[in-house]
Amino acid sequence: MENKELIRLALEAREMAYAPYSKYMVGAALLTTKGRVYKGCNIENAAYTPSNCAERTAFFKAVSEGEREFEAIAIVGGYRGAPTSYAYPCGVCRQVMMEFCDSAKFRIITAISEEQYLEQTLAELLPNGFGPNNL
Ligand code: THU
Repeated sequence: MENKELIRLALEAREMAYAPYSKYMVGAALLTTKGRVYKGCNIENAAYTPSNCAERTAFFKAVSEGEREFEAIAIVGGYRGAPTSYAYPCGVCRQVMMEFCDSAKFRIITAISEEQYLEQTLAELLPNGFGPNNL
């Protein structure tokens, strides 16, 4: 799948963001090695702590459906309207990625639009990460 299409799906996922507290809306589209896409949005909570990031929503949807192998994730975020800056995955989400992905190969696409995006590997965003291979 083209990066452009994955970004389009992340933008679509962002429409579902439930962010009444921060008002910062995030969407993610996670591509499996078999070519399936799982979308996720951030889901906030009045008690704050139970809030979930868009990336983890996508991962947990996929893993709970039996998926274990992933190729890439596109992420978009920002306040109301079209994104104006890159939304990088938080540390907790990077650690969840580390659990299920080959960090040298897994691609993280942070996007402002379908045309304007950056692509980095998980190893670049989480160097020397601790994962299943360490145990
Ligand atoms: N958020 C994400 O969904 N993904 C990230 O990687 C960073 C932060 C969400 C959490 C919260 O709902 C809002 O963005 C502001 O932190």
